[in-house]
Amino acid sequence: MTASDRRHWLNAATAAAHVAADFIAAESRSHRNITWEAKSATDFVSHVDLGAEQRIRDVLLTQIPELRIVGEELSNDADPESGLVAIVDPLDGTTNFLHGFPNYGVSICIALDGVPMAAVMHDVARGGVCTATAGDGAFVDGERIHVSTIAEPARALIGTGFPFRDVSYADQYLGMMKRIMPATAGMRRAGSAALDLSDVARGRFDAFWEIFLHPWDLAAGVLLVREAGGRVTDLEGHDARLVGGTIVASNGVLHDWFLDILNDR
Ligand code: IPD
Ligand code: CA
Ligand code: CA
Repeated sequence: MTASDRRHWLNAATAAAHVAADFIAAESRSHRNITWEAKSATDFVSHVDLGAEQRIRDVLLTQIPELRIVGEELSNDADPESGLVAIVDPLDGTTNFLHGFPNYGVSICIALDGVPMAAVMHDVARGGVCTATAGDGAFVDGERIHVSTIAEPARALIGTGFPFRDVSYADQYLGMMKRIMPATAGMRRAGSAALDLSDVARGRFDAFWEIFLHPWDLAAGVLLVREAGGRVTDLEGHDARLVGGTIVASNGVLHDWFLDILNDR
């Protein structure tokens, strides 16, 4: 695999994200008329998620025929860590989208044997496309981005997501929140984990954590944060994997402190 392969994968992912973002933006104009179905009590899907994913598949498979796709709505049981694979969240922040809350986007990561190689996070509602290829840095609309340099927890803004799918995590999560709240400048729950991670890469958040994420929520964000100079691990401090799970991301400087406070050490 060469740098030119990685560039080709990034171009294909960026083109696919654009097509999906245009579709989502057009549908957002009539979001109040959209019918949604419940995948579970707190997890929804509409023709917009499905239509966006189909469009992404069409573009990716035309440009990279040998690619396998792990996508939230259409192929979510494929292994995200073997071979050349695109890990796709066609619409991250579905609940925001359905309510017209402007924080949702398209997330695509191309990985080879579990290592993220190219990533795109297209912020549909606010605009801005974050991209990264392994070893070449992270960018927003072509401009280089870096994580923040804040080293003092008391000045840090922390992003998070609630463990809303499984309340059995609530006590563990609320304990974390209770420790972090008085120690930092504030916490935000914006409703799109993929955007939250790109916000760490852009230095808007100094750190972010969420107790359970799927591969498509985190794959692109893992590469964006790393290439912007930050760190992404699990709760034990091991490098984040693409199989999903608990994710802890930061500007790097705050990481050991963040792991300690999350683990109540
Ligand atoms: C969800 C969002 C949310 C996070 C959930 C995800 P979806 O993705 O990223 O912020 O808290 O864990 O599942 O369902 O909007 O694609
Ligand atoms: Ca998602
Ligand atoms: Ca989604």
